[in-house]
Amino acid sequence: MQDRRHFLKAAALSAAALSLDGVSSHAAPYVKGSKAIKPIVLSTWDFGRAANLAAWEVLKKGGRALDAVEAGVKVPEADPNNHTVGYSGYPDRDGRVTLDACIMDELGNCGSVAALEHITHAISVARLVMEKTPHIMLVGDGALQFALSQGFKKENLLTPESEKAWREWLKKSEYKPVMNIENSSYSTEKETTFNPLKLPGNVYNHDTIGMVAIDAAGNLSGACTTSGMAFKLHGRVGDSPIIGAGLYVDNEVGAATSTGVGEEVIRIVGSHLVVELMRQGYSPEKACKEAVTRIVKKNPERAKGLQVGFLAVNKKGEHGAYCLQKGFNYAVLSNDSNNVLIDGKSYF
Ligand code: GLY
Repeated sequence: MQDRRHFLKAAALSAAALSLDGVSSHAAPYVKGSKAIKPIVLSTWDFGRAANLAAWEVLKKGGRALDAVEAGVKVPEADPNNHTVGYSGYPDRDGRVTLDACIMDELGNCGSVAALEHITHAISVARLVMEKTPHIMLVGDGALQFALSQGFKKENLLTPESEKAWREWLKKSEYKPVMNIENSSYSTEKETTFNPLKLPGNVYNHDTIGMVAIDAAGNLSGACTTSGMAFKLHGRVGDSPIIGAGLYVDNEVGAATSTGVGEEVIRIVGSHLVVELMRQGYSPEKACKEAVTRIVKKNPERAKGLQVGFLAVNKKGEHGAYCLQKGFNYAVLSNDSNNVLIDGKSYF
């Protein structure tokens, strides 16, 4: 009896020790006392490098991860050469630029906007939804009215280059949106479908920026922002503003974000799935791979013609990614990683 009581007490203490280390007692990957990489910031795609630099300005001074990710993703949001995020994003099929974004902090606070028009920094509006309202998500005109009430000014986000791409698309108006993807050889469909990525002057040919970061205090946050699928139906919302789909942060475990065809990510609540898999002991890359595999299992034929990529970081600063098709990469900046671009492994 004495031995059994001793055993139970020891087990309880060891579970408590693991919890104190920020991990539930059944999780294996985080060894108490092991050194975490922090601060660190990671972003989807090569345009994530410029975004990482802006985030690093906050992180290197000991700033909060939440401030870092907001500052970071504002860079591609404002970039006129980036047609898949913020200002100058490709419009929907009615010629309207509509933005989706969300943000989440280490306390589980989150905010989101969907189908927001006329405001470049959708991410900052999402943050204010989080901080200034009792809600998590505002959409369409309601999101715009809220932004204006907070001092944002109405802008025209449709640049001549994006308008030209849209007018070109209008000639056929084929509603077969080609998801922005770096690997231009992935689909034969592109030969018969207008491909906005082939337009002259296109600097960037991919989509959403998802960013996750750990600050010097060891706290995680994430942000995700996009203009969504080019020439989408008006009102279409992808995964990017949906907490759990395009982004998820759990300060005990890690954070994940996604890029690619949002419909597929929403179907499996992808970023939440990746974080929960990490909680169960999966490495970031293995968790991302499992999420991608679930997308394939749901419909292998459909998955062959689509791109989805997941990016994840765990509490220790270990990171990884996985995607459906070759071509997805992410940028990592920490004291050890000089904003290197890493290719995600792919299912196909
Ligand atoms: N992942 C971006 C979108 O589907 O809109």
